[in-house]
Amino acid sequence: MEKVILDVDTGIDDALAILFALESRKLDILGITAVNGNVPLDYVTRNTKKVLKHAGNDTIRVFEGADRPLLKEAHHEFQVHGEDGIGMSLNDVSVDDSSSGSQFAADFIIEQASIHRGELTLIMVGPATNLALAVRKEPRIADWVKQVVMMGGLVSESGRGNVLPTSEFNIFADAEAARIVFHSGLPIKLVSLDVTMKTFLSLEHIEKLKGTRYYDFVMKSTDSLRAYTESSGINGCALHDPLTVGVVLDPSLVKTAKYYVDVETKSELSYGQTICDFNNVLKKAPNVEICTDIDDERFINMFIDALKNRKN
Ligand code: BDR
Ligand code: CA
Repeated sequence: MEKVILDVDTGIDDALAILFALESRKLDILGITAVNGNVPLDYVTRNTKKVLKHAGNDTIRVFEGADRPLLKEAHHEFQVHGEDGIGMSLNDVSVDDSSSGSQFAADFIIEQASIHRGELTLIMVGPATNLALAVRKEPRIADWVKQVVMMGGLVSESGRGNVLPTSEFNIFADAEAARIVFHSGLPIKLVSLDVTMKTFLSLEHIEKLKGTRYYDFVMKSTDSLRAYTESSGINGCALHDPLTVGVVLDPSLVKTAKYYVDVETKSELSYGQTICDFNNVLKKAPNVEICTDIDDERFINMFIDALKNRKN
């Protein structure tokens, strides 16, 4: 089984990514690290624990990490993810706020990368702050980590950002951190909006979960997300973070190519833009494997089938 750490800012689609990772039964989840992002860190930690509890999992530990970006002010997305970050969908689930893993998230990442050299996959579905702190403290993790599969940015669909015209939320939320990670030498696969905006979970898909453990949760939690995308004429909500898990489970879901990619950190208009040098005008070595195409139907079926695994 692939050894993974999930780094999350739970968030509705983060919650779905956690369930997908669990129910795939194909990943050895060493721990989940929480980072400030969609909502403040204490919400992220609580939501993550609630999702694990809802899944009946009481063994995976949650490690708290950065409670703010490296340099900028925090930017949250309550409007998209609801008042509590998961669409008020697990109000009846109570968790122990004091029971988090004893290590700081970045230290947990370093420790596990050192123990499992060449074997550890980091699935990053929030801002890159925890990983940036880890690589700053222990740059050798760049050689120890097998791969970083990271949801963030947009590379070819410029102008179709979701925070600024050219910026995607996870990178925008901490562009300095993303820049450190991109320049760290870590082997990065970037699952950007270019492909995640082709993966929509519609009501028809959700109906296929009827009679299973997760039907109510998926229906309720995605309500505000679906309303958000449906207002622009799209049927369903984008599965950004679950796709990132999907790419780890089955890399053949996407086509990829390696390029030099950098992150804009200075501009007001395009802070957090991921700039891909397709024509190699900068003459720099490729540092990021980007996704250029996706088999979206196969992915959605994989996702639904995994969640359907749990009848009760
Ligand atoms: C990303 O931003 C967050 O709102 C989602 O959870 C996802 O990780 C999409 O831009
Ligand atoms: Ca996320």
